[in-house]
Amino acid sequence: MANVIVIGAQWGDEGKGKITDLLSKSADVVVRYQGGVNAGHTVVVKDQTFKLHLIPSGILYPETECIIGSGTVIDPKELIAELDKVEALNVSSKNLFISQTAHITMPYHRMIDQAAEERRGNKKIGTTKRGIGPTYADKSERTGIRVVDMMDTDEFAEQLKWTIDYKNVVLEKLYDLQPLDHKEVLDEYVAYADRLRSHVTDSALHIYNAAQQKKNILFEGAQGTLLDLDHGTYPYVTSSNPVAGGACIGSGVGPTTIDRVIGVAKAYTTRVGEGPFPTELDDEVGNMICEVGAEFGTTTGRRRRCGWFDGVISRYAVRINGLDCLAITKLDVLDGLDEIKVCVAYELDGERCTEMPGSARQFGRCKPIYEKMPGWKESTEHCRTLEDLPKAALDYLEFLAKLTEAPIAIVSLGASRDQTIIVEDPIHGPKRALLKENTSAFKVA
Ligand code: GDP
Ligand code: IMO
Ligand code: MG
Repeated sequence: MANVIVIGAQWGDEGKGKITDLLSKSADVVVRYQGGVNAGHTVVVKDQTFKLHLIPSGILYPETECIIGSGTVIDPKELIAELDKVEALNVSSKNLFISQTAHITMPYHRMIDQAAEERRGNKKIGTTKRGIGPTYADKSERTGIRVVDMMDTDEFAEQLKWTIDYKNVVLEKLYDLQPLDHKEVLDEYVAYADRLRSHVTDSALHIYNAAQQKKNILFEGAQGTLLDLDHGTYPYVTSSNPVAGGACIGSGVGPTTIDRVIGVAKAYTTRVGEGPFPTELDDEVGNMICEVGAEFGTTTGRRRRCGWFDGVISRYAVRINGLDCLAITKLDVLDGLDEIKVCVAYELDGERCTEMPGSARQFGRCKPIYEKMPGWKESTEHCRTLEDLPKAALDYLEFLAKLTEAPIAIVSLGASRDQTIIVEDPIHGPKRALLKENTSAFKVA
């Protein structure tokens, strides 16, 4: 029995969907603990591609229970559309459970997200415009509407009347938008409630019971460490806590439930939306990585900004999440390069620094200090063991493991399940605490 958290170690889109799907084979329960439909997790099985937004990436295993936890924000319209899509592909949703205490994204949240971004002008965050920030803001302000409220029509009607009156003032007076009609919104959301009712549960109790029965529970993070509200590159972050600590809060389990934390990082770095990105490449190599890696957003279709692997933020992710090991994805995307760079530190105002500064302004001034490594100039997508890899690729991975001080348990070389090297069993294998100095980065003592 092992309960494992899978988190993004960069700015999101690291390949969490692929890794979660892979590990879900041995999971009884998969829990999404934060975020909403801003997430886009891709799972490729044979010739089928699933783009999941709120539904956990364990859904493709018919016996695995999938839970949308209380720390998430749920846009019911989008969730129902997603359910319809997976069901059309013959994936059953009978094992999908929705937390009764998750917050609901309402039409005014989406409207305010869009209008607020416009108002910010050149200070915009580059949000997904899915209403995520405003939904979490209402949760904190204690004016949010939760799943359990939506399920009780009388209570919901009353709550909605008050809330819509309030939000209409904001929409009209602050953003010059059309007010919403209370009855229309009520009718729309009552229909959503009826569709989702059979999935709603006390998810924290559900997870507790699973843990008591010694079932394997996998906690699937959305977004990534650097997008964390508290520990990311604020204000260019999302409004929830993707870091490992967020899994306990967003699921309602105590930290003693967790056995392992696995970080997913690309062999390079990407970012969507605004905000500092020291290793960003604004050149041919950046374009090549974007094209070969198909770096376009799963949710918004936006072109992702691409750059070299950033050892500073990756070491930070190891520390903030207490990572036991790393899964390095998309190594194959670097196959064609003559030379590969890795950022080992920054130069900030003439000084070398090896930690990310707390202020976005200072972070924006950080210049990467690179180490250069030779490329391997051959295809790796068919490699299935470390021995199959070209020597330069192996050296590259070893360098990343040493730099981040975390063993690499998984190497991914393509979107499909089989395009993977399992270096060590990520659940029962390496634990970072066991990694001794001067041993091979792939091996534990
Ligand atoms: P997530 O948000 O972390 O789940 O990642 P996304 O699904 O948004 O983006 C990752 C993209 O890379 C998806 O299109 C995956 O199918 C794809 N992918 C995952 N692992 C690999 C890999 O090792 N190599 C390549 N070429 N593509 C991969
Ligand atoms: P997955 O789970 C990458 C980014 C947005 C924006 C910032 C805030 O697929 O890795 P929001 O809509 O959350 O208020 O936007 O966060 N962002 C993501 N970037 N992957 C994601 O999810 C993201 N979810 C949000 O681009 O910069
Ligand atoms: Mg994604």
